[in-house]
Amino acid sequence: MRFPIIAGNWKMNTTVTEAVELVDKVRKGIGAGFSVEIIVCPPFISLTAVKEALKGSAIKLGAQNLYFEEKGAYTGEVSPLMLAGLCEVVIIGHSERRQYFGETGEIANKKIGAALKAGLKPILCIGEKLEDNEAGRMSEVVTEQLQSSLAGIAVPADLVVAYEPIWAIGTGRAAHGKQVNETAALIRGVLAELSNQETAQGIRILYGGSVTAENIAEFLEQSEMDGALVGGASLKADQFINMVEQAEYIYFPNNPPTKDLIPW
Ligand code: PGA
Repeated sequence: MRFPIIAGNWKMNTTVTEAVELVDKVRKGIGAGFSVEIIVCPPFISLTAVKEALKGSAIKLGAQNLYFEEKGAYTGEVSPLMLAGLCEVVIIGHSERRQYFGETGEIANKKIGAALKAGLKPILCIGEKLEDNEAGRMSEVVTEQLQSSLAGIAVPADLVVAYEPIWAIGTGRAAHGKQVNETAALIRGVLAELSNQETAQGIRILYGGSVTAENIAEFLEQSEMDGALVGGASLKADQFINMVEQAEYIYFPNNPPTKDLIPW
């Protein structure tokens, strides 16, 4: 079984104080009895404080980016060595990095390599632009992104891939579950070519893009989907908790949470 993930990408939101308040609420709201993997990705500057606030909790901590060099004269960058020991997970190749900071498949490739070398678990983000989607180029773009980001890398079974169509991110216009499931199957096929069937079957594929407590079930119920990477809605503690609880009901129906779903 692939263990499902609900991950929150807080992006450039929350001060250190707000980040700690948010994670405290999430931690208390979720309690201890959950089976899905929960990851929160606050801004770099809050990682230490959030790590402290998560002491003793199974909620995992992730960074939103890294630089591929280990150290040196790279003003303003954060290296894999700085993150190792502080967090377990790192988001790589997010479309906002590609769009606003010129990140290419080649850069994502170096970052994945550097993350793995430092013992960090990457969540590799891929997804097509609206014009590519409308021109029927989704498969081509997604395939190319996977091939370039993973070129020359021994793909680990604990890699996580987040399919995030750019037109769905922060727009309130989420993709449809069935459509996302077909894309996830395509992604798994490309991953099998880049590694092997067994590894590809173990890799978790998440959906991201305007996921909310209202629509998350549609994605989680798909056979090829293994969870969600949530942006905006992960900043609201009650909504994030609710999404985790829905995931518990969907993935572990024989072991549902003992309390009722928390409304958001
Ligand atoms: P969103 O962001 O949920 O706010 O659309 C998702 C993401 O970019 O990871």
